[in-house]
Amino acid sequence: MTDISWAELRSAAITATSRSYAPYSNVRVGAAALCDTGAIVVGSNIENASYGLTLCAECSLVSDLIRVGGSRLIALSVVAGDHAPIAPCGRCRQVLFEFGGRDLLLDQGVDATPLTLEQLLPRAFGPDDLPTRATQ
Ligand code: THU
Repeated sequence: MTDISWAELRSAAITATSRSYAPYSNVRVGAAALCDTGAIVVGSNIENASYGLTLCAECSLVSDLIRVGGSRLIALSVVAGDHAPIAPCGRCRQVLFEFGGRDLLLDQGVDATPLTLEQLLPRAFGPDDLPTRATQ
């Protein structure tokens, strides 16, 4: 198991906030994750004039994960422009579940114990459900 440097992840997430495109909300979000290859992948939120087509930082992080050839997320830090952790929205919890599963660890800040994605998205629907639920 790869060691997790939460300080490094947090720092990369903070750096990613500076590459956010958030002219509408001014909430600059950065995300950084350790993936199974040992690489750190990052993402920033990318807003849109339509508002509804905004991409959250976690979504652009997943894009980076696939781009660098990673497959699983191990540990994730998501922060806003104030550098404090921000809770992934509901849609992002589901997107993250696809690539991190229930054991993905989520940073809660310097003095707090990380939470698992299972704690944030209990009884999640995921890839394992599909083969058993398809009608023949
Ligand atoms: N945002 C994220 O990037 N991730 C989340 O999980 C929560 C919300 C962004 C979307 C939008 O650009 C801004 O935060 C305000 O909602």
